Amino acid sequence: GPVHTADLVVFGGTGDLSLRKLLPALYHCDRDGRLSPETRVIAMSRGGLADSDFRGKVDAEVRDSVPVDDPAVWQRFLGRLHHVSVDVGGADRTGWHHLAGLLAGQEDRDRVFYLASPPRTFGPFCRELAEAGLVTPRSRVVLEKPLGHDLPSAQRINDEVGAIFDERQIFRIDHYLGKETVQNLLVLRFANAFLEPVWNSLWIDHVQITAAETVGTPGRRGYYDHAGALRDMVQNHLLQLLTLTAMEPPAQNDREAIRDEKVKVLQALRPITGSEVDRFTVRGQYTGAGDLPGYLDEPGSTPPTESSRRVETFTAIRAEIRNWRWAGVPFYLRTGKRMPYRRSEIVVQFKDVPHSIFPGGSPNRLVLRLQPEEGIELHLMAKEPGAGEVTLKPVPMALSFGKTFTARVPEAYERLLTDVLAGNPTLFMRRDEVEAAWRWIDPILDAWRSAPALPEPYPAGTTGPAGAHELLGRSGRAWHEEEL
Ligand code: BG6
Repeated sequence: GPVHTADLVVFGGTGDLSLRKLLPALYHCDRDGRLSPETRVIAMSRGGLADSDFRGKVDAEVRDSVPVDDPAVWQRFLGRLHHVSVDVGGADRTGWHHLAGLLAGQEDRDRVFYLASPPRTFGPFCRELAEAGLVTPRSRVVLEKPLGHDLPSAQRINDEVGAIFDERQIFRIDHYLGKETVQNLLVLRFANAFLEPVWNSLWIDHVQITAAETVGTPGRRGYYDHAGALRDMVQNHLLQLLTLTAMEPPAQNDREAIRDEKVKVLQALRPITGSEVDRFTVRGQYTGAGDLPGYLDEPGSTPPTESSRRVETFTAIRAEIRNWRWAGVPFYLRTGKRMPYRRSEIVVQFKDVPHSIFPGGSPNRLVLRLQPEEGIELHLMAKEPGAGEVTLKPVPMALSFGKTFTARVPEAYERLLTDVLAGNPTLFMRRDEVEAAWRWIDPILDAWRSAPALPEPYPAGTTGPAGAHELLGRSGRAWHEEEL
């Protein structure tokens, strides 16, 4: 469609997210011709930078991370960048006046306020924008995660932002929704006929959703001590993957139709409360191993405290969805830092054949890999060639997106920024979705907070504590890699 001219105002514009993800993604949009010539990017920070300083910084820190095949395109991109210094909550109004000056006379443009700043600033920033008269009917606001730290704080932020912007103007980011394979999951499920008849508790034994990372948390203690894996990864990314795997077919590929179905899944999650928390959830924290430091020894801005000792860097959970399609099918969720590999995947484990006439054999399994190599594998049983006895072997029928399609796979933020600029919120979280997710997470957090035990230790570079293996092992199941 036509590209509208937009002014994109980024709060936290000189921060890590902006430099590592947003600006590279915007450059890609520019390079692919998806930004109108007049579109501007206005970074807001406390930095006291002039436009030229900011352009210099981006030139020095971003240029090497993107493909610059035509220096003129890079210069064009730099030319779009502006910087405004703002004193948040302070008496000095110069920054807001400066921003108002830049935006004056541009009311017919799309205006996007991107809050890549801590969640406590969301409400105050929105109020400031309204007071400065900068919120036009064509304005949108983008909220980065974390959206609060529990249900009440999420509701408060939603109320504060909702007092200034209509829900249709609010775009809550979960960058996992921008990943190609995640969108492909909907295409796989709803543009192919063969899966739907078996996509239920009659045929599926269980589902595993894993987001394993090799990185630790160096320099992030201030954030991570108060987040932990459950808030950082499960409340958002893993639950989003769960909803897309489990949702009913929507009647249209429509922003509300899809989000309506996702909310229903979250609302059907069986609460895990009280003594069940011990049985259905596992917490782990990595300890030093070889060259790898433990969580408490990671270099961070502040020394470790009691909260550092209690925070989970790994979690595994057995979730259940109480509806007709999924009753009795466990959804195992797992995520951790300092695991032996970086891998995000959804594994759908089918039931075994009702009666086996061959020795050996194992149930079919569908693997949707988000990263590192995006693809889909269906593990089938095949006969090993040979004239002797029949020997079964699982073989993958594999689709690699990298090998099948020549087009470059865009980064999640490119898709999401493109959608924000086009005003399409389908891949963003609606208020009721975020709150339903917190409603399920909160009782687990409560139980963990009052638990006397610390998280189970696991050595850095391993697949998590023993409890994670027992969570599946006690029903005769195992995590995907343990059987490979
Ligand atoms: C972020 C978390 O939301 O997602 C990080 O805050 C995590 O802790 C990151 O490392 C993982 O994203 P990706 O795209 O690398 O899987």
